[in-house]
Amino acid sequence: MSFWTGKKVVVTGGAGFLGSHVVEELKEKNCKSVFIPRSKDYDLTDERNIKAMYENAEPDIVIHLAAAVGGIGANERYPGTFFYKNAIMGIQLMEMARQYGIKKFVTIGTTCSYPKDASIPFKEEDLWKGYPAEVTAPYGLAKKMLFVQSQAYEKEFGFNSINLIPVNLYGPRDNFNPDTSHVIPALVKRFVDAEREGTKEVVCWGTGEASREFIYVKDCAEAIILAAERYNSSEPVNIGTGKEIKIKELVRIIAALTGYKGSIAWDTSKPDGQPRRCVDTSKARERFGFVAGTEFEEGLGNTIKWYKDSIGG
Ligand SMILES: NC(=O)c1ccc[n+]([C@@H]2O[C@H](COP(=O)([O-])OP(=O)(O)OC[C@H]3O[C@@H](n4cnc5c(N)ncnc54)[C@H](OP(=O)(O)O)[C@@H]3O)[C@@H](O)[C@H]2O)c1
Repeated sequence: MSFWTGKKVVVTGGAGFLGSHVVEELKEKNCKSVFIPRSKDYDLTDERNIKAMYENAEPDIVIHLAAAVGGIGANERYPGTFFYKNAIMGIQLMEMARQYGIKKFVTIGTTCSYPKDASIPFKEEDLWKGYPAEVTAPYGLAKKMLFVQSQAYEKEFGFNSINLIPVNLYGPRDNFNPDTSHVIPALVKRFVDAEREGTKEVVCWGTGEASREFIYVKDCAEAIILAAERYNSSEPVNIGTGKEIKIKELVRIIAALTGYKGSIAWDTSKPDGQPRRCVDTSKARERFGFVAGTEFEEGLGNTIKWYKDSIGG
């Protein structure tokens, strides 16, 4: 018997990029049911739909991944939407989960919640030491409010919720729509397309001097499953690899892996976002034994292959 045997699980956002990989892992786990509310049937910004979902699925555990998300461009265009939808969905889902007596609630945060100039590597205890990078602050702060809710509900009601903070994700089934994509799928699309079309120059956003940390989506899904099984505290935990990479270096690797031979230019009128991002991963290792296993270039290779297959080989 595993932790999951006989359990009824709701995965909000379970049809999305990360959600689809979490659901794939859960399918191996002997759960009694895994329910995925689609937004067209259950718009989770509306409390009535949350109640209907909990009454229909009667979950023992909720993994809350549904969100309005996107890269820097999308954060610049939709700060109000990202703030409102992420705050209202999460707050109502957790409150209703408490009222319905749900045993465990998992929230997925973001490194956009960290202060803009937090020291590297980001430690969980530094989360409240300053204001986040302006461009992603509405998204990051909306999600951070769930940590406050989680801690307050643990204290007042003994409610069991856990809060995980993954770094940027990448991998198969990512969002490659240039209007809303994150940096890796945006670059993969640009360089694969440029290589095919024989484009002589690819223009990238910002200065290339900012750094980021990336985790392969399947590793993140594994971390979520492990944490749900083994971790029971509202103290947030980083999920990452601990490896920082400059955007310039990332671009060089993706250009090489896609076989692109042209030149690379930088549009410095576009924002870099937070100057540096890299997390301390020791808490995830100590509290629930998670260590990310996928090598970066292997994960990138899988992502490029998936994108090429999706556009016809
Ligand atoms: N991608 C990253 O790099 C990254 C990094 C750190 C944390 N995260 C977090 O990880 C989670 C998953 O992100 P993702 O990249 O997998 O996003 P995604 O592919 O866009 O998936 C999000 C899902 O949320 C659902 N959703 C959105 N609005 C909804 C609403 N009003 N009602 C019900 N469902 C709604 C959508 O369901 P439908 O398909 O049914 O519309 C969608 O499938 C998010 O919480 C995000 O903040 C992501």
